[in-house]
Amino acid sequence: MPRSQLETDRLILQRFSRRDHNTLDDAIRSSLPDLNQWLPWARLDYEHGDTNAFIRDSLQAWKEDRAWDYSVRLKEQPDRHVANVSMWTVSQLGKIAEFGYWVRSDEISKGICTEAVGRLLEEAFTSLSYHKVTLRIAIGNDASDRVAKKLGFIREGVLREELLIRGNWIDHSLWSLIDREYRSLHRSRVQA
Ligand SMILES: CC(C)(COP(=O)(O)OP(=O)(O)OC[C@H]1O[C@@H](n2cnc3c(N)ncnc32)[C@H](O)[C@@H]1OP(=O)(O)O)[C@@H](O)C(=O)NCCC(=O)NCCS
Repeated sequence: MPRSQLETDRLILQRFSRRDHNTLDDAIRSSLPDLNQWLPWARLDYEHGDTNAFIRDSLQAWKEDRAWDYSVRLKEQPDRHVANVSMWTVSQLGKIAEFGYWVRSDEISKGICTEAVGRLLEEAFTSLSYHKVTLRIAIGNDASDRVAKKLGFIREGVLREELLIRGNWIDHSLWSLIDREYRSLHRSRVQA
């Protein structure tokens, strides 16, 4: 199981608690127009109860060692939820994890996603010994493609009609990063 709290220079990534309801709900509501385009759960009629259900399911998934969601906070403003990053296992045999993420709209393009996902990659490859981490990104989601590229992910190909979003089946690209690639990228960054 990953650690329940991780840190970077600017960020704290922490397991959700029931106390996070209001700040998470506020982040989702203020970001719905952006989230709605790419994430199936982000319906425009999203309700407070959906946030309760998310936190309840997230706590249960941690308990069952099944999936790990983190609330991302800026260290300088630790009471405010600015992003979600999540990790779950897609293959025990292949030691493959998948990540998901979103950032509240008034905090995008500040490098928060790249920094938070970078920290989760370290946990996945160093502490949890995953062999491969994957991302599924809707075709056209250029900001998310950019995050994948900045972190060294390689685009494997297209998953046809992978997810139903707002009534349309959307093709996604599959991106991956393998442990030796991560280590080599990390080594060259440390040496630079
Ligand atoms: C995708 C998302 C998580 C990125 O979060 P973020 O914190 O803004 O990401 P970062 O700042 O680390 O990096 C974003 C990069 O994309 C670039 N970018 C932003 N919008 C872009 C666009 N429309 N086209 C191309 N690049 C774009 C930014 O300039 C930045 O690149 P740079 O550092 O080279 O300048 C955020 O935009 C988001 O939450 N979107 C809605 C939900 C979503 O799409 N989730 C991902 C599903 S796979």
